[in-house]
Amino acid sequence: MSQDYNQFVLNVKRLTGIDLSFYKEAQMKRRLTSLYEKKGFDDFHSFFKQLEKNPEMLAEFLDRMTINVSEFYRNAKRWEVLEKRILPDLTHNKKRLKVWSAACSTGEEPYTLAMILSSFYPLSQIEILATDLDENVIEKAKIGLYVERALQEVPASIKEKYFTKQGMFYKVNDQIQKTVTFKKHNLLANPFEQNFDLIVCRNVLIYFTEEAKNLLYQKFSDSLQPGGVFFVGSTEQIFNPQLYGFENADTFFYRKK
Ligand SMILES: C[S@@+](CC[C@H](N)C(=O)[O-])C[C@H]1O[C@@H](n2cnc3c(N)ncnc32)[C@H](O)[C@@H]1O
Repeated sequence: MSQDYNQFVLNVKRLTGIDLSFYKEAQMKRRLTSLYEKKGFDDFHSFFKQLEKNPEMLAEFLDRMTINVSEFYRNAKRWEVLEKRILPDLTHNKKRLKVWSAACSTGEEPYTLAMILSSFYPLSQIEILATDLDENVIEKAKIGLYVERALQEVPASIKEKYFTKQGMFYKVNDQIQKTVTFKKHNLLANPFEQNFDLIVCRNVLIYFTEEAKNLLYQKFSDSLQPGGVFFVGSTEQIFNPQLYGFENADTFFYRKK
């Protein structure tokens, strides 16, 4: 690690509590270098001095380091597996589920969860915790307005039932919005709530080092109830699930033993 980046990582941790050393270095460095060059800085040192005194620049830095792309029903086939093969068992004899969408970005993922769970429970009985490191995405998620592109995988009947067109945007229906509680949470620094039946954490672990991933698999496992399910992204299979007390429930789904 170059001395300049090394020092930057320490400084950012001190300033924001975010530990960049848990993120894959080459990727992160490339993204941040292109940002500081665009802003006219020569190195991480001078860039950090600016971050310290300029909240707008700090917001831009955060925006660049967290990749926020998301969409409803992202990788639709996987959500179908959740609905058809995982949830029938998980909901059996249960009045409600404790559900967490971790690293939820702008809300498409927890709202998708609510839409799918609505086939199993009345909306008034559904409670989903949705968290992200980035306050800006949480604010957008709470507003619940989306461009058409974010809805391209949404089944027509769901689109009809749970969205209303507002000018150029689609608005998520109030009843769906009420099922989700958004909170700021850093997976790499904050404690995890316990006793979840279902945790969805997709398309964020890919940005982390192996060490950070292993740590997080254990923490997710610890915060699930026995029999609870962990749902990961489509490039994020766990190679040794048994190391963390998981068994395979389906591809990309792990059950806590
Ligand atoms: C690519 S998005 C994934 C969104 C959604 N889960 C999906 O699959 O569509 C990655 C999200 O991870 C969040 N993130 C990055 N580092 C994080 C951390 N340490 N703790 C919590 N969230 C984090 C980013 O802010 C971003 O919103």
